[in-house]
Amino acid sequence: MSDTTATFPEGFLWGTATAAYQIEGAAQEDGRTPSIWDTFSHTPGKTAGGDTGDVAVDHYHRRTEDVRLMAGLGVKAYRFSVSWPRVQPTGRGPAVQRGLDFYRGLADELLEAGIKPVLTLYHWDLPQELETAGGWPERDTAHRFADYARLVGDALGDRVELWTTLNEPWCSAFLGYAAGVHAPGRTDPAAALRAAHHLNLAHGLAVDALRAELPARAQISVSLNPAVVRPRTDSEADRDAARRIDALATRIFTGPMLDGAYPPDLLDDTARLTDWSFVRDGDVALIRRPLDSIGLNYYTPTVVSATDGDAPPERADGHGGGASPWPAADHVAFHQPPGERTAMGWTVDPTGLTDLLLRFSADAPDLPLYITENGAAYDDKPEPDGSVHDPDRIAYLHGHIGAVHRAMREGADVRGYFLWSLLDNFEWAYGYAKRFGAVHVDYTTQARTPKSSANWYADLIRTGALPA
Ligand code: NOJ
Repeated sequence: MSDTTATFPEGFLWGTATAAYQIEGAAQEDGRTPSIWDTFSHTPGKTAGGDTGDVAVDHYHRRTEDVRLMAGLGVKAYRFSVSWPRVQPTGRGPAVQRGLDFYRGLADELLEAGIKPVLTLYHWDLPQELETAGGWPERDTAHRFADYARLVGDALGDRVELWTTLNEPWCSAFLGYAAGVHAPGRTDPAAALRAAHHLNLAHGLAVDALRAELPARAQISVSLNPAVVRPRTDSEADRDAARRIDALATRIFTGPMLDGAYPPDLLDDTARLTDWSFVRDGDVALIRRPLDSIGLNYYTPTVVSATDGDAPPERADGHGGGASPWPAADHVAFHQPPGERTAMGWTVDPTGLTDLLLRFSADAPDLPLYITENGAAYDDKPEPDGSVHDPDRIAYLHGHIGAVHRAMREGADVRGYFLWSLLDNFEWAYGYAKRFGAVHVDYTTQARTPKSSANWYADLIRTGALPA
């Protein structure tokens, strides 16, 4: 082994990740009712090609095969999400046994295969009935989420040690309620800010609900997708644009969750949209509950500059068309960072991942960190013999896992890395057009074929060593 090989500590948690709506299918089975993503994807024009998660990659019926696939790759952990409308169809009342049984069975199969289950409670599939009642901009949704957390905690607490409340609440609030490119497709920036607060509240209430249900060994976390914001120049105006986007992307969550207050600059910046009176006395104390770790999802950095406000600013923020997901930031322009891009059009820049880890390590020094998502979409095509070669993805993973190691050398306490994604799957508004999997899925036959990146990742897991 050369001395430039990056060696990861024994016990580093190498995993893969998925989410319920993106893989399960079986949208109408065993008592499941529609989520906002069923409604949205069935609305003409909302997803590429009109794709929906009705069948997805049929994981609901292929769970055992998928666990076997992971066991074959030697992954140590699997991050999946529970579909809320599968276990509590209307978002209220008792749990549906068959729904819970699916996840209990999944956890059992994982444990038997020596794979640690890592459960996310919310990966964007709000029961439609709760959206009809107002969705995340309504305070009651946070209380509904805490009840749901209690049901799942009670049912799976004996099997699952690592729990995540929310996945990327930024996307739920701002892509869902401001940009309208995610479910439920609303374009109301003030409602998006309310949604962000109620997602924060939901997180805090769920942490308490889980603690009451789970054994003492359980660990509770949240997965955020902080933007790694870089000002285009060092000018004061560009640095201020970066500060504003950092508040809207990251500190709106870490402020109440970790520091016990909404950042004053965020309140000022958004004052023309809302007076934040929906934040009640005592809410921030409910949100800032002790956590055991933080999950970070990273794909690409964000470059911004200030504009003079005359022309509509450039919007290369990687979130597709639609309205702006950035409330009260109309004089901020987003620029495509230079360099190679993935099939999503996202620039490949591993330095952002090192920066992100070092920032959280400085801001939350007592909390271990996990990369709960990192990966890339490429236009992978099977060879005539059926094999799938994805050297671009291997290069992406190599660069980013190296960036994790660099942060660890500089002191970040990183405990694990989850490749997004185990399987090609339903990439939200992009439908099945974007393939993030380490394992290729033929959407006609549902055949799974590990790509060369899956084998590369399996070798890395086996050796714990990343050659330079
Ligand atoms: C973030 C999300 O959590 C996941 O669902 C999505 O597929 C990936 N990033 C890639 O966009």
